[in-house]
Amino acid sequence: MDLTLSQGLFALQSLSLTEIQSILRRAQEFCDGVPMPDYSSKLACNLFFEPSTRTSYSFQVAQNRLKMRSLIFSSEHSSLQKGESFYDTIKVFDCFNPDLLIVRHGKEKFYEEFAGSIDTPVINAGDGAGSHPTQSLIDLITIKQEFGYLAGLNVAIVGDVLHSRVANTNIEIMQRFGMKVFMSGPPEFLKRGMSFFPLLELIEFCDVIVMLRVQNERHDSKFSLKDYNFKYGLNSKMLSLMKPGAIIMHPGPVNRGIELTEDLVECSRSRIFNQVKNGICVRASVMEAIFKSLI
Ligand code: NCD
Repeated sequence: MDLTLSQGLFALQSLSLTEIQSILRRAQEFCDGVPMPDYSSKLACNLFFEPSTRTSYSFQVAQNRLKMRSLIFSSEHSSLQKGESFYDTIKVFDCFNPDLLIVRHGKEKFYEEFAGSIDTPVINAGDGAGSHPTQSLIDLITIKQEFGYLAGLNVAIVGDVLHSRVANTNIEIMQRFGMKVFMSGPPEFLKRGMSFFPLLELIEFCDVIVMLRVQNERHDSKFSLKDYNFKYGLNSKMLSLMKPGAIIMHPGPVNRGIELTEDLVECSRSRIFNQVKNGICVRASVMEAIFKSLI
């Protein structure tokens, strides 16, 4: 594996397609029942400075499956409440000499703050509106399981593209894998230099529709969700227009009735809970790749 992984995983740009394919292949082996290695000598510290359900707990489950020990940081009960900085908090955990830090923080590229100042490898579990490398790996494996290949597939990414780290990471990596990525959503969420297409135009030829949550916590003023589903979301009418074999994805958490109507969340085209399931194998594979790069 590449030397870059010995410092952890900050963004997928630092990995070659071959390295990503190897992580995905190994993740698929785990999904297919190949036993996970025994990392009982390893300790991970999971530090989430932003709320999380599937990312934080799937890292924890993956660590359990790898027989690792993990320590869960709780910001409400930490010295952050006494005014300690993010940097010092990370330094403290680095001093405990763990084998891995899993960090999520609202600041974009938070990892640059302590680059070169800590020894422990770090996995970026989401940096503000920056990137979310393990979520994109999950999205790729979910698509690969469906179609068997990636190159040439048409993908629609729909919603709050501007503030979504998942969109950022997906656009970069999906294009690198030869997929055609189209975006759609409210004009407020359009990124400079990009174009939005009406979902109605994309729905007929896209193989994958990735819906995104409106990231209200990253907006200066509250965005109104009135009529959102009708104008920008998925509902039974849109479902009937989808290309045969096309699938619906969403990194979660889903606002039922907003990005997609209730009836679509678990419909036959939805792979939303498959994405959650794939989280365990993907995160186990990433952690193994980091440990192997340290040998
Ligand atoms: C996403 C996140 O936190 O970036 N969720 C996740 O990790 N699966 C998406 C979101 O919060 O909307």
